[in-house]
Amino acid sequence: MLAGLARDDEDFDLDDRSEALKPLRPAAARAYLADPHVLHWIEEEDGLVLGHLYCTVIRLRAGAPLELLLYEIGVRKAHRRRGVGRRLMKTMFAWMRKRGVLEVWVLADNPIAVKFYRACRLRKAREVPSYMTRVS
Ligand SMILES: CC(C)(COP(=O)(O)OP(=O)(O)OC[C@H]1O[C@@H](n2cnc3c(N)ncnc32)[C@H](O)[C@@H]1OP(=O)(O)O)[C@@H](O)C(=O)NCCC(=O)NCCS
Repeated sequence: MLAGLARDDEDFDLDDRSEALKPLRPAAARAYLADPHVLHWIEEEDGLVLGHLYCTVIRLRAGAPLELLLYEIGVRKAHRRRGVGRRLMKTMFAWMRKRGVLEVWVLADNPIAVKFYRACRLRKAREVPSYMTRVS
C-alpha cells in the first residue's frame, strides 16, 4: 500500500505539484508501519486507494500531553468532491475523541485545501509562523 501511494503520488496532489515518489526501502516501511506515532488512514474501493490521510502524534512537554500534526491528505483527482476527504477527517476526529487528544493542526498550502479544512471546521490560527527548513 505504501509503495503504491508513493508511485501514484501525482494523482493525490495538485496538478502543478508532485511527481512519483521513491517508495521506502522495506526496513524503513516496516518502521513506519510499526511506529505508534504514525497514523495513516486510507479509503479504498475494490482494492484501489481513493484517498489517504497521514498524521503524526506529537508528545508535548506541558499542558495537554499529545496533539496531532496533520501532515498530508490527498484524494485521487477523479474521486474528489465525493466526501472521501471529509470521511478521512472524521476518522481522525474519532481517533482524537477516543484518545482525548484535543488539537490537530495543519499547514494548509493551497486555497482549495483551506476551503476543505474550513468545511471540516478547522479555523485559521491567529498567529501564523514562518515555515523554515534545511535540507542537508
Ligand atoms: C483537499 C482534498 C483532500 C479534499 O478532498 P475531497 O475528497 O475532494 O473533499 P470532500 O469531497 O470531502 O469535500 C468536503 C468539503 O470541502 C470543501 N471543498 C472540497 N474541495 C473543494 C473545492 N475544490 N472547492 C471548494 N470547496 C471544496 C467543500 O465544502 C466540500 O463539501 P461539499 O462537496 O459538500 O461542498 C482534495 O482536494 C485533494 O486531494 N487535494 C490535493 C492535495 C491537497 O491539496 N492536500 C492538502 C494539502 S495541505
